[in-house]
Amino acid sequence: MSNSSAHALTIVYQEQPLNAGTPLPILRRSFVTPQTLFFARNHGSIPTIDPATYRFRVGGMVRSPLEFSLEELQSRFPSQTIMATLQCTGSRRNELMALHTIPNEIPWGAEPISNANWRGVALRDVLQATGIAPAARYVSFSGLDEVWEEGKAVGFGSSIALEKAQAPEVILAFEMNGEPLTPMHGFPVRVIIPGYIGARSVKWLGTITLQDEPSHNYFQARAYKLFPPNVTQAPTDTSQGKMLETLPLNAVICIPQDGQMLEAGPVRILGYAFTGEGSPIQRVEISADKGKTWTVATITERNDPWAWCFWETTLDLPPGPHQLFARAWDATGHTQPADARQLWNFKGYANNAWHRIRLHLA
Ligand code: MTE
Repeated sequence: MSNSSAHALTIVYQEQPLNAGTPLPILRRSFVTPQTLFFARNHGSIPTIDPATYRFRVGGMVRSPLEFSLEELQSRFPSQTIMATLQCTGSRRNELMALHTIPNEIPWGAEPISNANWRGVALRDVLQATGIAPAARYVSFSGLDEVWEEGKAVGFGSSIALEKAQAPEVILAFEMNGEPLTPMHGFPVRVIIPGYIGARSVKWLGTITLQDEPSHNYFQARAYKLFPPNVTQAPTDTSQGKMLETLPLNAVICIPQDGQMLEAGPVRILGYAFTGEGSPIQRVEISADKGKTWTVATITERNDPWAWCFWETTLDLPPGPHQLFARAWDATGHTQPADARQLWNFKGYANNAWHRIRLHLA
């Protein structure tokens, strides 16, 4: 088995568990992110799993519970490849932290996002094999990693509505960019839920359970929930928070980077834009005058509906300090909020305010 620490991630927020990403200018070089540069988000340690004995179980509200080895999964069902971008909903938390403290969370910039070709089996094929009991409404997943929260072993889990679970894009993946998953990204099998926050795509799949309510796992029932800005710390009753599902529209400037000094004149600006399960990105715009006027960027690469798109433009900028803003629009006319203050929440999730960088041109 390949080494679980085989990666080239240079922005390391935590070694144990590993939480790390790639600087935006490097991330922006490849439309399909190489495995070694794909961001890593772990709540516990990376388990060592022997493929010879590995099995995952499907049970709960099904007609016949089943177990699968990796080989059985691959031989029993047709495989498909889907290009999908994964994004952690903690992306751009550092901007929310600059407004008001967010304790005990990783100060991610805009780098916990990456794009890959995932090969696997449609979850709905597996559910067809087990049969679905009429009362089932949700499909929950649990991982084989050991995860501790608030002094308790909680494991990692998530759930999605049965309707999304039966959509053709939801897969049980065993390959990433034509190679077996590495231990860090979920070997032997992980769930891929395109368009949803990364936390729902459970790695090291252990169980799939059909049930009539969402998962009670800490990461579905307590964390990854959105509260309004006036809730400044974890309430004892977290039931009021909205369970995060799809990712909001977002555009990010990758090149140049915030704070860079450059020569005055034409400046090439490159970035990514992404939206979860919604209408495709229509356009990306850049402003050099605090949002008064906007220049439409060219979308240079896209693979709708589940992948990010790459865009670029060139602005002629005179000497002096500058601020550049970026925002995207989707095909239904929705765009991003201007100000992160409207979005602040005590866990620091889902920041999609206009992305801003400062530059100094000489
Ligand atoms: N699955 C398990 N079992 N344990 C985890 O800690 N982290 C989740 C998700 N699946 C996690 C998990 C989160 S928060 C994200 S954003 C994605 O995996 C990140 O996937 P990656 O590390 O392959 O980039």
